[in-house]
Amino acid sequence: MAYPIHRMRRLRATEPLRSLVRETHLEPSQFILPLFVCPGEGVRREIGAMPGNFQLSIDELVKDCAEAASLGIGGVILFGLPESKDELASGAYAEDGIVQRAVRAIKREVPRLLVITDVCNCEYTSHGHCGKVVNGDVDNDATLEWLAASAVSHARAGADIVAPSDMMDGRVAAIRKALDAAGFAKTPILSYAAKFASVFYGPFREAAESAPQFGDRRSYQMDPANGREAMREIELDIEEGADIIMIKPALPYLDLIRMARDRFDVPIAAYQVSGEFSMIVAAARNGWLDRDRAMLESLTAIGRAGASIILTYFARDAARLL
Ligand code: PBG
Repeated sequence: MAYPIHRMRRLRATEPLRSLVRETHLEPSQFILPLFVCPGEGVRREIGAMPGNFQLSIDELVKDCAEAASLGIGGVILFGLPESKDELASGAYAEDGIVQRAVRAIKREVPRLLVITDVCNCEYTSHGHCGKVVNGDVDNDATLEWLAASAVSHARAGADIVAPSDMMDGRVAAIRKALDAAGFAKTPILSYAAKFASVFYGPFREAAESAPQFGDRRSYQMDPANGREAMREIELDIEEGADIIMIKPALPYLDLIRMARDRFDVPIAAYQVSGEFSMIVAAARNGWLDRDRAMLESLTAIGRAGASIILTYFARDAARLL
């Protein structure tokens, strides 16, 4: 009985009709652009596996931030490459650390731009793990102190949001407590709540020079096979005080974005990670995919799944197209 009364193609006939019934819309204000800040001056070093992304010294970083602001992008998230690394990740929580100085510079030069800081230790430890290594394993509770100190130092520098990505248990509560005690009760926490031990972080580790020197991250990041466990991670982070939760990576985990959207009434972010970006760019460079369409389709899918905030290396290109 349905056909020929119902013809689904009627509403697809022209762009005005398609536009009228479109369910998912993207806006530049949803996008967060990840940026990598390094020591020096006038440094703009392209990352091999991430064309169009750079390690930037603070003076150059500020220029990219001004551009991001003028494109109406929702904000930036900063990753730091310290002058030197050590066993104690001291660069992560130093008051004059690379990210802390970068935040101050951005807040001075581009005050209207939202600045998020990634709170983690892997870029700052000599072994490349996300926390303090004791007897060959990352010690959870000792690492919480570093994370809390980093978050407070970022807030003190002027960060609008702090975003822990280390996957230690209890870090949201530890960071919330430390922020409040230091007078930053108003600084929100965006928690990388469900972060998987993913091969798709490969290009990022070149960008941030943060590949683990032994072993891998599977004793703290999640097993890609586990969806119910992701919901528990998210639930715990919300209980501990996370204001926004994140699922990462994005495209291979759309089911979990949707599951989280249906269960939790907090803003949900998804991170289209370096490998997701690089796959599209590499295929486009080979002439195998249309870059712009692959970019917009993947971002639209992430939005349709339920993420209202998308961290993406395409933030600039997508904002220009929209
Ligand atoms: C730090 C961190 C990583 C990413 C974001 N924060 C790397 C990792 O966990 O190994 C990956 C982002 C990307 O691949 O774009 N822990």
